[in-house]
Amino acid sequence: MANLVFGFGPKPAAIMIIGERPGAEEIKFGRPFVGRSGQFLTAEFEKIGIKRDELYITNVVKTYAMGNKPPTKHEIKNFLPILEKEIREVRPKIIILLGNTATKVFLPECSTVKRCEPKTIKGVLYFPMPHPGSVIRGYKKTVEAWEKAIENLSSTVQKY
Ligand code: URA
Repeated sequence: MANLVFGFGPKPAAIMIIGERPGAEEIKFGRPFVGRSGQFLTAEFEKIGIKRDELYITNVVKTYAMGNKPPTKHEIKNFLPILEKEIREVRPKIIILLGNTATKVFLPECSTVKRCEPKTIKGVLYFPMPHPGSVIRGYKKTVEAWEKAIENLSSTVQKY
């Protein structure tokens, strides 16, 4: 069992995905987004023509926490240099921010991911989306926000 789960995928990659932190399945397999959230993500992206093996996938924090607790400010700060190094190596055109944790690291002006719009910073498009873990729980507003974001992502990706 891995204690840390680092990013996985091609470098460079046009699209990079940043989640929150690995869950129990990710720790078991040593890869990000391989549990239920990851399976949902893979299926949703395939529907709009984005193949998982083209993506670089990582998390803000690389360690598991019992009960999947959201990362603390301290954990985020500690792992930020690794995340910044990954971004430099991957050189993405689009960075998909899954959930509030990843969104607030790059778009701190956003109060919640559901009300946050994509933004280009230094030539990279930061694209916030609800976290798949909360989408599969089925809250109506989150599901609606996800569907809207997927539609927007589909047309955005065609332009890139
Ligand atoms: N949720 C995350 O944020 N990251 C993973 O790798 C898996 C679930």
